[in-house]
Amino acid sequence: MTEPNKRIASGMRPTGPLHLGHYFGVLDSWVALQETHQCYFFVADWHALTTEYANPRRIKEFIPELVKDWVAAGLDPEKCVLFQQSQVKEHLELHILLSMVTPVSWLERCPTYKEMREQLNAKDLSTYGFLGYPVLMASDILIYKPSGVPVGQDQLPHLELTREIARRVNGMWGEVFPEPEAVLTTQAKLPGLDGRKMSKSYGNSISLGGDLDGVRKAVSGMLTCVKRARLKDPGDPDECNLYPYHVLFSTPEKCAEIDAACRKAEIGCGECKKMMSEALMGFLEPFQQRRAEFDRNPGLAWDILEAGNVKAREASRRTLEEVREKINFIG
Ligand code: TRP
Repeated sequence: MTEPNKRIASGMRPTGPLHLGHYFGVLDSWVALQETHQCYFFVADWHALTTEYANPRRIKEFIPELVKDWVAAGLDPEKCVLFQQSQVKEHLELHILLSMVTPVSWLERCPTYKEMREQLNAKDLSTYGFLGYPVLMASDILIYKPSGVPVGQDQLPHLELTREIARRVNGMWGEVFPEPEAVLTTQAKLPGLDGRKMSKSYGNSISLGGDLDGVRKAVSGMLTCVKRARLKDPGDPDECNLYPYHVLFSTPEKCAEIDAACRKAEIGCGECKKMMSEALMGFLEPFQQRRAEFDRNPGLAWDILEAGNVKAREASRRTLEEVREKINFIG
């Protein structure tokens, strides 16, 4: 089990359209990894249910939308396995086995558990399902025995728990699971329109599938460098909320030009925003064209998942057989 493998597993919840923050955080690393690793990427619909259980009907709408965003971003179902978590019931069997060995105290002390219960106080998250969220996540991961899990910073506590659970299983039942490493993206977080972390719930995000005129308008209202209250005040791109966007979407030459002009107050923020907007369109337009291909074939997103579900089940079953054998639990 210690032989290095090149498998990757990760999931995203279907809770709404993806935005630039998702792309330059996790999605771009997924796209790169499919070239070098065997990747299992899934729509985490059961996970969405842990917080949306009172309003479960909308989850289904978001599932194909997520797949469309993935494929438009460059994920290729020929190169990686794209599937739907709830259609691979094998995750549940591993979940119940892992739940036997996971101390409740590990779950209660998980920082995201307390944080999310406080933040989402309009929802009652004092449920068994919500407490057990990291155990479900551990099952999603370990069932594919991956070496790495590409996740955002916010998921690190969950991944640490996954590793602890893997260690406990290996110690108690025998070596089965390699301890998966986090694959963190090197890209700095893209700030939202208002300078805070980009998040749909803050209303400061630019969605990948968003209407382009709306995006232009949102960019024109963006917060820039606080030092530039007046046009003649020199600015500092290092402190500007707009500049990181240029770094991502404009050419290096353009960035150097803007950097110099801003520091000498030779360019206004309005002009700078217009240039960024055009560069951003150069990224969003082809994305949206690829996404529009799904309109011509409405069942395609579900078909992609269905084909992936079959492959994910096969891989899951192999791991389950191994685990059952370890505990002499073969029915
Ligand atoms: N918890 C992740 C999130 O909220 C989604 C997720 C579920 C996941 N299972 C996973 C991520 C397994 C990585 C691996 O974004």
